[in-house]
Order: sequence, then C-alpha cells, then structure tokens
Amino acid sequence: MFLAPWRSLLARALQRNSSLVYARYVQLATVRANGQPANRTVVFRDFLEDTNQLKFITDSRTQKVQEINLYPWGEICWYFPKIREQFRIAGKLILVDADYSEPALQQARRIAWQEISEEARSQFTWPQPGENKATARAFQQPAPDSIAPLDNFCLLLLEPEQVDFLQLRGEPQNRSLYLRDGEGNWSVRSVNP
Ligand SMILES: Cc1cc2nc3c(=O)[nH]c(=O)nc-3n(C[C@H](O)[C@H](O)[C@H](O)COP(=O)(O)O)c2cc1C
Repeated sequence: MFLAPWRSLLARALQRNSSLVYARYVQLATVRANGQPANRTVVFRDFLEDTNQLKFITDSRTQKVQEINLYPWGEICWYFPKIREQFRIAGKLILVDADYSEPALQQARRIAWQEISEEARSQFTWPQPGENKATARAFQQPAPDSIAPLDNFCLLLLEPEQVDFLQLRGEPQNRSLYLRDGEGNWSVRSVNP
C-alpha cells in the first residue's frame, strides 16, 4: 500500500516527541445525532500495518460508538508541543467490533487486545459508561482473558482523507493541506496559515 505523503511528517513528529507520553493523546471529534459536535481524548495506538489507517481502541458501550454508527466520520486534532506542529486529520471511521466480518481486521482487533495492559483490559469489565456511578464492588471483576477480547472491545480505525498540517515555527508559519481523491491519490498544496 502506498504510504501517504504526510505519514513521514507524522512519524517524525512522533519520534521527536517520544519522550512525552501525552504526545500520543489526540482529540477525536465525531458528530452527534442532532448535528452537534462531540469531542474526547483517545490514545493513538499505531498505524494499522502497511496502511495509512490510525488505530485506536474503544468500548462499544460508549456514546462515540453510537455516533460513529450513525455517521462514520471523524476528525482528530493532534498537537506536538516539542516541535510546535498541529495535525488535523479527518476521514472515515471504521469500527471493528466483535461482529466485524473481515478476518484480517478481526485479527488486528485481537492483537490490539493482547497488546494493552491488564489494567487497560479490566476497564472493559466495568459497568456501563455514562450510567449513574455504580458501587465500588461493581468495578471489582475478575481479570478478563488476555487472549480473546471481551465483546465490547473495539478497534477503531481512522482512514484519513484530509490532513491539515500547521507548523508554528517559521516566519511566516507553514500550513499545508493534503487531500485524497477518489482513486486514493494524495495531493498537497501550501496555504496561508
Ligand atoms: C488521556 C486520556 C486517554 C483516553 N484514551 C481513551 C481511549 O484510548 N479510548 C477511549 O475510548 N477512551 C479514552 N479516554 C476516555 C475518553 O476521553 C472518553 O471519556 C470516553 O471514551 C467516553 O467518551 P464518549 O462518551 O464520547 O464515547 C481517554 C481519556 C483520557 C483523559
């Protein structure tokens, strides 16, 4: 698969901010059923092997999953403080849940489950997100299997179609827009910041 031209910029930003754990936290915006935006922090896990797709994980019981099922589009906003660069990456969201049919992505979902810590896995045993706070006991569940994901564990993929890249360094600042056409080819143009 052809790697998009913005991939090397993002790889460099990740590498140069690798000492900051929070450089892997991004804000993911989705659209609510009433048209209003919804936004929250998620952890960038990696790229899906040999693709331009960004991997995240989430719980099928969360609000964002309902939003994605209604309108599978999202945008992340990602700022790298050490090099003062912002990436706004918009595209299609692909929710790989327990019922997802494609075997390769089902395998990627299993691997994502196996790669997270036991503590992270245990959060998927917690009571329904967004409901009234349950008793402390309800959060004390046996550790889930470390190989087979719980049904509510989802791999979430962002397939970028548009990348707005802003470098604050420079006089004037640099801003580039990357766009993917229907055939999957990327174009880039420099725009005013
Ligand atoms: C630093 C940080 C990292 C987070 N990482 C994730 C994540 O990887 N996946 C996730 O679903 N929620 C993550 N959350 C929680 C979400 O921000 C959010 O509170 C939760 O997913 C419910 O969102 P929703 O109701 O919009 O679906 C994280 C929160 C913080 C503060």
